[in-house]
Order: sequence, then C-alpha cells, then structure tokens
Amino acid sequence: MKIDNYTNNHTNFGTSYRKVIKPSYQLGDCYEASTYFFVKGLQWNKFFNHLIEKYKDTPKVNVFSLACSDGSEAYSIAMLLISKLGEDKAKKYFPIIAVDFDRTITRNARKGYMNISQEDELSINKYTGNKLNLFFERTNQTFLSDNKGSTKDRDLLTRFKINPILKDKVQFITEDLNTYVDKMPTTNNLIFCRNCWPYLWKTSKEFAQKLSTKTDINSYLVLGNFDRIGCPMNTKNCYGFSMNKEFPNVLDKSGSDFFDNTRLFFTKIEDDI
Ligand SMILES: C[S@@+](CC[C@H](N)C(=O)[O-])C[C@H]1O[C@@H](n2cnc3c(N)ncnc32)[C@H](O)[C@@H]1O
Repeated sequence: MKIDNYTNNHTNFGTSYRKVIKPSYQLGDCYEASTYFFVKGLQWNKFFNHLIEKYKDTPKVNVFSLACSDGSEAYSIAMLLISKLGEDKAKKYFPIIAVDFDRTITRNARKGYMNISQEDELSINKYTGNKLNLFFERTNQTFLSDNKGSTKDRDLLTRFKINPILKDKVQFITEDLNTYVDKMPTTNNLIFCRNCWPYLWKTSKEFAQKLSTKTDINSYLVLGNFDRIGCPMNTKNCYGFSMNKEFPNVLDKSGSDFFDNTRLFFTKIEDDI
C-alpha cells in the first residue's frame, strides 16, 4: 500500500492503495484510491446472472468502471463475465471503459501488472471457479504492503502479470468524471460508479443529473457502500432513478420510484457464493 501526497514527489507504487491530499486540504481536495477485487457491497454472482438474462438479446452492452482506481473492479467484472459466458459470448460487454482522474494510478494500471493480496486470490478463485491462473501469471516478487489507512494491518502482496485474455478487455481513460460523463452513450449502459461519490462533493448533484441522461431503461447504475454519504440518490428519489428492488446499491430507470432509505443503514450485503 502506498500513501502519496501532492506535497511531495515520493511515489512508490507498491499496490493499489493511494491517498492523495492536495496542499489546500479542504473537503473535496482529498481522496483515496484504495480498492481490491470483488469489492463488497454487491451480490456479484446473483447480479451478473441477472444481467446475463436481461441482456441476452442485446447485441452490445456498454460497461463502465467510473472512478476505477487501479482497475480491480473492471477486471473483476471481466473475469466474472468470461467465467460465466466464455470469452466469445462475453465479447459484447467489452472493452470495459475504466475512467479515473488520477494520472499515477491510471498510468500504472496500463502497465499490465497487479499486486494481489492472499485475500484477493481467494475471492478471484471463488468468483471465477478457480481461474486465477487463467487470468494472471504469478511472479516471484512479494512484499509487505504499507499500513492500510489508519490500521496497523499489512498484507503480503504478490506481483502478478495480467494475461492478455484479461488485460485486453479493459481500456483505461485518464479523465475527470465530470467531463467524461458527457461522452458516454445514452442506452444499454452498465455503469459502476462505486465508492467515489463523497469525493465528487460539490459536483455530485450536477454529475448525478448528467449521469441520469446516460441511464435509460436498459441501463443500471451500481453504487458502493461508501456512497451512502455523498450520492444524492441515496438520500432521496431524484433524477428519475429508482432503487432496484432486488439488488441493494443498484439504481435503475424502471420507473418504479422505489426508494428505501432504511436500506442504507440496515442492509448488510453478503457475499453470494
Ligand atoms: C476509493 S476509490 C474507488 C475505486 C473503486 N471504484 C472501488 O469501488 O473500489 C476512489 C477513486 O475515485 C477517483 N476519483 C475521485 N474523484 C474523481 C473524479 N472527479 N473523476 C475521476 N475519478 C475520481 C479517485 O482517483 C479514486 O481512484
């Protein structure tokens, strides 16, 4: 793990953990780019079974991992789709467009290596049916992560090369979400925008409104547990989004107007395998 700071030039990209504090250090000037594979807050297996059925007659599905950090989320999506459908049938979901405004993290992501913890290895094998070795090639480089945020825990990390079957499925774009959103198509969008809404801060309402124009009845917007504060649609029904009745943290344009704010505090989303 790496804690980086705009006020110095020290950059040691050990893992996906990165904390950036701009010199002015006001709310909205600070973000963390920490992530991992199959991030909690979504019933990954059940949701993707649902998507595969929903999009079975749709020729192209546009998949976005917005605020993608090092690509762990985009690669989780790609691995799950390939494992469930096979590479050929999963083609219509690719490339997954992964967008983040952090230049360091996106530049590193394009190099094609990931630093993977033992916990990541377990979850990758769990969700893909033991296909870690299909998607990644283990190197003999291992090291201890930095402390995780404020805790003293350190992970043993192994550096893996991402195999082409996976690497080719994700395209990284370095851009602020507030401008990238204007470039997105308007139909058949599967949008992951998770665990970044508090960082959008002053722009979150305008961003949500723009994102709404990119989310039609054949689209989904997936949020994260961390977005319980910061995402306007989590505190009231707005911009035409409804909470998906079946999947917590998923919004849709079904028109159901379903909204349940007790979910934000009382729903524990368990792993579904
Ligand atoms: C905690 S990580 C979330 C990573 C991943 N989505 C997940 O759920 O694990 C937050 C990410 O949001 C990105 N971010 C914050 N504000 C952004 C903005 N305005 N435009 C693009 N990326 C942004 C940061 O660079 C960071 O990588």
